[in-house]
Amino acid sequence: MNSTVIYPVPQLEIDRQAQYMRLFSTLPKRPMTYCIMTYGCQMNAHDSEKLAGMLTEMGLTEAPREEADFVLHNTCCIRDNAERKALGNVIWLKELKKDRPDMLIGVCGCMVQEQGMADSIRRQYPFIDIAFGTGTLHKLPELLYEAVERGTRMIEVDEELNTIAEGVPIRRSSPWQTYVTVMYGCNNFCTYCIVPYVRGRERSRQPDDIVREVEDLVKAGVQEVMLLGQNVNSYGRVPETGLDFAGLLRRVSETGIPRIRFMTSHPKDLSDALIEEIGRNPRIMGHFHLPAQSGNDRILKAMNRHYTVDQYMERADRLRQARPDIGLTTDLIVGFPGETEAEFRDTLALVERMRFDSAFTFIYSPRVGTKAAEFPDQVPAEVSTDRITRLIAAQDKQTERVLNGMVGQTVNVLVTDVSRRDAAMLTGKCERNISVNFSGDAGDMGRIVPVTITAASRTTLKGKKK
Ligand code: 5AD
Ligand code: SF4
Repeated sequence: MNSTVIYPVPQLEIDRQAQYMRLFSTLPKRPMTYCIMTYGCQMNAHDSEKLAGMLTEMGLTEAPREEADFVLHNTCCIRDNAERKALGNVIWLKELKKDRPDMLIGVCGCMVQEQGMADSIRRQYPFIDIAFGTGTLHKLPELLYEAVERGTRMIEVDEELNTIAEGVPIRRSSPWQTYVTVMYGCNNFCTYCIVPYVRGRERSRQPDDIVREVEDLVKAGVQEVMLLGQNVNSYGRVPETGLDFAGLLRRVSETGIPRIRFMTSHPKDLSDALIEEIGRNPRIMGHFHLPAQSGNDRILKAMNRHYTVDQYMERADRLRQARPDIGLTTDLIVGFPGETEAEFRDTLALVERMRFDSAFTFIYSPRVGTKAAEFPDQVPAEVSTDRITRLIAAQDKQTERVLNGMVGQTVNVLVTDVSRRDAAMLTGKCERNISVNFSGDAGDMGRIVPVTITAASRTTLKGKKK
């Protein structure tokens, strides 16, 4: 797998796209406004910031979906419901287009990258004007230019998925908290997961490119970066960057950025070096997202996860020894093919033993092209629904315990918003990535403020400025 050839998108190609961005304004009849609909994970959210960055450079401004000249859906295909949601919204636009024939509809991201999808867009969805996969995101300027200039549909999917494009403009949605991609793709091939097929093989950005990006963010006043990758802790393997993830964290913290987060990590790649770095580096926030997926060894093996429950717990214990204040969160799947009631109960037991701050829980969803979709004994929907209800209830109890245990503590909160429920309250995340609401003043926005926790609700904390 490590022999995969990874190459940067040549500067010439990036310059060519910049040329299209400039040329766009010379088109007499062109879309002036855009709306991006984003589905799925942080990686997609960040891709949308790049799409918005390119469109802004091209002179388009943001507008609501009902009014925008160009509506672009950045899709997800990790589970069936994500896919259906995106498709439903695209089809809804087809109706809108009947009244506004000049409107352009675009679809991009993971779903477009699925096997056979480009063909099906060509044949079954004639109202889609522009489509491109995750590997050709940087080509949006050219595709949009050509679609408008020639009045033709532009559909481009690169099957290879082995490039890294540097220098794409980014329109960041928060001035204080931002994403920085450190690696793309995944080589793990968990048997349920479609990500390696739609995001390609693992490939890491060069440390200097990452550090330069963070340095610029620090100059612009950003307080927190979230380092992104499908499997961040295997950073640096392909191509060899001479630096592992622990080393990268050290270099990123030397930029002076006050807070560093990262996601997602694979338990099998959680090295002692990384745990040590987390233990000694106060700029790394005390939160670790460590997807367990299941609490049963037979299921973990069938998932191709390469760890046992004991190994998972050993890593988590080491993390907690190195950083006693750390909050752990996880991902869990119920109803994996062949999962018995007893095996599911092992997942319930894991939740009780691990005391996760929170967990993302999913019903297994078969994905065409993955190994598990071919496994016998697919679990009936009503059994999975019953299991996820019980799992959520078990985790809710743990979350309540963790949050109540924090009452009386003083935590540092990066203030990013006015509370949704109460306009007199400010809100932000503490080190453990839990939302904290407190009454403050406008001057606190974008600052890191000490807050003493006075009460806990189901998923958030309430506090008083110290
Ligand atoms: N069905 C259900 N959940 C899935 N995930 C990935 N693929 C599937 C699938 N086919 C979950 C895993 C992963 C998270 C991002 O999504 O828990 O960690
Ligand atoms: Fe999917 Fe597994 Fe890769 Fe995560 S590690 S993206 S679950 S294949």
